[in-house]
Amino acid sequence: MRSNSALFPRNFRKAYPIAVRGEGCSIIDQTGRRYLDASGQAAVVNVGHGVAEIGRAMAEQSSQFAFAHTTQFHSEPAEKLAQRLLALAPANFRPGGRVYFTSGGSEATETAIKLARQFHLESGQPARYRVVSRRQSYHGSTLGAMTVSGNVARRAPYHPLLAEWGHIAPCFCYHCPFGKEFPDCGVACASDLDNFLSANNAASVAAFIFEPVVGATLGAAVPPDGYPQRIAKICRDHGILLIADEIMTGMGRTGKPFAVQHWNVEPDIILVGKGIASGYAPLGAVLIAPHVVDAFERCSGAFQHGFTYQAHPVATAAGNAVLDYIESHNLFERVPPAAVALRKELSEMESHPNVGEIRGLGLLLGIEFVKNKSNREPFPRESNIAERIRQAALDLNVLTYPTQGCVDGITGDHILLAPPFIISREETAQIACALHHALQTVFPT
Ligand SMILES: Cc1ncc(COP(=O)(O)O)c(C=O)c1O
Repeated sequence: MRSNSALFPRNFRKAYPIAVRGEGCSIIDQTGRRYLDASGQAAVVNVGHGVAEIGRAMAEQSSQFAFAHTTQFHSEPAEKLAQRLLALAPANFRPGGRVYFTSGGSEATETAIKLARQFHLESGQPARYRVVSRRQSYHGSTLGAMTVSGNVARRAPYHPLLAEWGHIAPCFCYHCPFGKEFPDCGVACASDLDNFLSANNAASVAAFIFEPVVGATLGAAVPPDGYPQRIAKICRDHGILLIADEIMTGMGRTGKPFAVQHWNVEPDIILVGKGIASGYAPLGAVLIAPHVVDAFERCSGAFQHGFTYQAHPVATAAGNAVLDYIESHNLFERVPPAAVALRKELSEMESHPNVGEIRGLGLLLGIEFVKNKSNREPFPRESNIAERIRQAALDLNVLTYPTQGCVDGITGDHILLAPPFIISREETAQIACALHHALQTVFPT
């Protein structure tokens, strides 16, 4: 039936309830139905809904002045938030790091790609322009970000529009692309970067971009210890910038401000989005290490790039208010115990014959569903398992984030869980209960 909506939807075959209110970890629709948001609306809503002081801070900022263009002014909230992000970043960002604010994650990726390219121009290495990435990854939906993404389904329609700069193997132990096992594998997936560069004109490569924990595409795939460190060393040895895409993993989601801090890795550029303003405003950020900043400062003095709405005063005021709330409620510290509680509630599911693996770090978890647990065989794509799990969990008003393709870009079903950091014991139990119901519904015995 034709809808009378004027909105171009994500999917014409789906019905969309109208969200009208949020409270803590829940969203309430126009009919009064309350949904427990186990995925934080795609790992965005870190501090929960309905925090009145964040709304007040935004209103206060917008009542001061509407907007000031960054070619003419800087603003206090943007300056303050930049200082605070650098203070949370790995030590190599201080002193002398800088922050470039955007209106979301994809813009942050675009900015990093162009920044890496211009950095090498400024440094007298004009041959470097390619940004190498990994298969089975996602860095955003604009064309540059899609070029470096390795998510097969999301790239497919746009293939003719995308440059090919090179993708290496993913780091994914549950379905190792080399058929090996850690630690005997010697972290072959990290060596793949070295091998790729040796065989593919390393002197033309500007940067390597990776998600420290692969979010949507692989369902919270965590690298083994040693992988991020090896990747960082290979980049350094080849004079290539290391870009950590922390759009999903940053701002405390994995239990540290940035996921790379679990492995003491110091990237040259860190991308932030999603949780930075916890959904209260569209905001992203690119954290730039001092030696990259220096090249611009010493040479041309100007980055040939820009968005009208970059570093928006209201969006950055929201970012500051979210950080204030995180600090005053010790929310970064709440992630590890909340994650332990959630894993404990889910642990019973692990013995289910169709639950292949529950994985992740902190409050970024993935549950992969398999047809055959002994050989990790996925279901055929047409079985639509992840979406059916989502629908069944929704019977009990719990929202999850389903994706297909984790095995080979086509098959492999998983859901992502990324609840707000304020998730309570009762809500954790409610998520487990809904998933238990979903397993019974989708895999009746
Ligand atoms: C790792 C990663 N990078 C980039 C993006 C793109 O961010 P946005 O959707 O805000 O443009 C996403 C979004 O899901 C993401 O998860």
